[in-house]
Amino acid sequence: MRQKVTIHTLQGKIHSGEKITMLTGYDYPMALLEEKAGIDIILCGDSMAMTVFGHESTLNMQMDTMVTHSKAVRKGAPSAFLVGDMPYMSYQISKEEAIRNGGRFMAEAGCDAVKLEGGQNMAKTIEAMVNATIPVMGHLGLTPQSIAQLGGFKSQGRDCSGALKIIEDARILEESGISLLLLEAVPPEVAGIITERAKIPVIGIGAGPHVHGQLLIVHDALGFFDAFVPKFVKKYLDLNSVILEALGNYKSEVLEGQFPEEEHCYKLKDGEWEKIQKQLGL
Ligand code: KIV
Repeated sequence: MRQKVTIHTLQGKIHSGEKITMLTGYDYPMALLEEKAGIDIILCGDSMAMTVFGHESTLNMQMDTMVTHSKAVRKGAPSAFLVGDMPYMSYQISKEEAIRNGGRFMAEAGCDAVKLEGGQNMAKTIEAMVNATIPVMGHLGLTPQSIAQLGGFKSQGRDCSGALKIIEDARILEESGISLLLLEAVPPEVAGIITERAKIPVIGIGAGPHVHGQLLIVHDALGFFDAFVPKFVKKYLDLNSVILEALGNYKSEVLEGQFPEEEHCYKLKDGEWEKIQKQLGL
């Protein structure tokens, strides 16, 4: 098994210029595969609300569900750097709530850090969490928990004032003590400036190539979720088609009596069939 990925491993990569790989992961079987593939960071993301639970936004996730899934991911991926995604209203209400809930990801699920969305408005909360020994990943740009304010899942920082705000927020978050930063759906030039100035790993999802690492939602990358496919997604597999073909084959084999075959059946012990027949008078 590879060595545990820590914040120092990730820092080492940004200094050596090796790119960091990150995917979402929501359960044990996928975590096993991501671990085997050597993915550096796994985000147990609240995108699960949409990809796993079928909701239209990420607002509907509960702390207990996030912790349960993060625990399952940790079991499957013991050496990956695991980030637990703080769900809507688990950190916005007060610093105390943020510390209590962030602490649950660390203590109950074995996460290496927690992620929360927001810029300057979250600076004091982040400071308090870091002081309470909780490593934090910031998240700027398109922040899905704010879709009501953003007016939908829209790219951010595409004009001068929007770009400057994100660049300034990135500076403030780093000053507040974040260990990593995620940039979502922002132009590559903006992500490039932030990355150049940052001393911490900057990961992009839809933020172009000038960042330290890339994140994709694993269901998007594998073609396992097509209700909503953002521009930045690259599909590495059409898993929906693969699964659909397998399900169709299963159904027709059952209907046509081709499944199960002898190899799928348990054998009675020698001589027992005769005894059963005799007992039943067959
Ligand atoms: O929940 C998640 O997967 C995320 C990504 C969209 C960045 O926050």
